[in-house]
Amino acid sequence: LSRGLVVLKLGGSIITDKSERFRPDEEAIGSLAREIASSGVRELVIVHGGGSFGHPLAADYGLSEGFRGPEQLRGLAETHLAMEELNKLVVSALLAEGLPAIPLPPISCFTTKGKRISRAFLGPLKALLALGAMPVLYGDVVLDEELGFTILSGDQIAAYLALALGAERVVLCLRVPGVFTRNPEEDPSAELIERLRPEDVKHVETGRLRVADVTGGMRKKLEEMAPVAAAGIPVFFTSPRPPGNLARALKGERAVGTLLSR
Ligand code: IPE
Repeated sequence: LSRGLVVLKLGGSIITDKSERFRPDEEAIGSLAREIASSGVRELVIVHGGGSFGHPLAADYGLSEGFRGPEQLRGLAETHLAMEELNKLVVSALLAEGLPAIPLPPISCFTTKGKRISRAFLGPLKALLALGAMPVLYGDVVLDEELGFTILSGDQIAAYLALALGAERVVLCLRVPGVFTRNPEEDPSAELIERLRPEDVKHVETGRLRVADVTGGMRKKLEEMAPVAAAGIPVFFTSPRPPGNLARALKGERAVGTLLSR
């Protein structure tokens, strides 16, 4: 069964406990791995976020704004190392389900210019896919042509790879099951927006379309994914709940969430 490549982003907030530093949610990681395995989708690139392994450390050392002094190099190392620790948990859980997951550190295959990916060495990634392996990348510190270094988000990587590899679809698995008019975790009147077109994202930016920016990221995610959808690759915003939801989304079946597509 060859349905084409799926790019899956696992949000940092579903694989870590964001309230405490370096605390993974191993139960969640295990159940995500089971669900990915049960979907039967095997042409898959996984990109996971940092959650409490990445962001607090990156903020401590001001990494996102680039190089200011050598004391930050320790932060660069520690942030990358923390992401490797988290990656190890994700990859181990996938292996435990019998999936051929292989870590691929973004620090060694991407560089950016002004925080946007400028060069990518995708040879190893393509070779892994050709062998039937499942590459697992993550948001990482990367070297930047202008800033020295910066933080490259898993979202930017997922969008880039979807376009570069001509993916069949992108699935963003987040804490909140889709794009909502208000924060559904705080406001019961929040409504799920089931369908968005890439051109709608402009109205979100100008405020003409109201979208809740849960954990400060939904607008950025939409901006990152709009070009992917505009290129004809559907992007589905969803969450692990209810059980079976993620597996359906990966297969391109009807699931709870928001479809951003042309
Ligand atoms: C952040 O990656 C990685 C680092 C801070 C090093 P993401 O931006 O993809 O992480 P989440 O999904 O928002 O946690």
